[in-house]
Amino acid sequence: MEIKRIFLIGFMGSGKSTLGRRLRSEMDWDFLDLDDVFEDKFQTTIKQYFATLGEDAFRKAEQEVLKDVIHKDRVIIATGGGTPCFFNNMDVMNKNGLTIYLKLSVDTLIGRLNSGKQVRPLVAGKSGEELYKFIETKLKEREGYYNTSKVVVDAEVLGVEAYVQIIKASGDLLP
Ligand code: S3P
Repeated sequence: MEIKRIFLIGFMGSGKSTLGRRLRSEMDWDFLDLDDVFEDKFQTTIKQYFATLGEDAFRKAEQEVLKDVIHKDRVIIATGGGTPCFFNNMDVMNKNGLTIYLKLSVDTLIGRLNSGKQVRPLVAGKSGEELYKFIETKLKEREGYYNTSKVVVDAEVLGVEAYVQIIKASGDLLP
């Protein structure tokens, strides 16, 4: 099967965008961060969108953005942490590309999220303890969706080369 697009799946702070940018140079494909596509389309920040219209409206708009990018070829797409968990988004991604779940522990995620939490409306303003509880609960809720990815990787240990090998082994990629 020829892979035309790759969806990076995982919790906030799991390194989807960083990996996506690295894969872009390794594979010479395009890279899109769904959050950035969202902000370009709606000409606002996600934080502002949540604050004015709320999460339900955000999820509907996010699904629209996913549909906008779903037919692009030779593209690596970093999804938002919640994208796979609403509507039939996970099915849509599985039908249209290779989904890779970057699996990380709560302990690793908390370290990463503590620094970047202010721009993420779901975690902004949380104390260390609140953040830990939030990640623990949300990750349990979301893992059922994340685990339906075609490939699940232990992202604690994998370097970019290993991802390239996994992708190559998953289909006939164009050079
Ligand atoms: C969200 C994750 C964010 C962004 C929004 C909601 C979530 O993306 O889409 O703040 O529900 O987990 P990142 O995973 O890129 O931070």
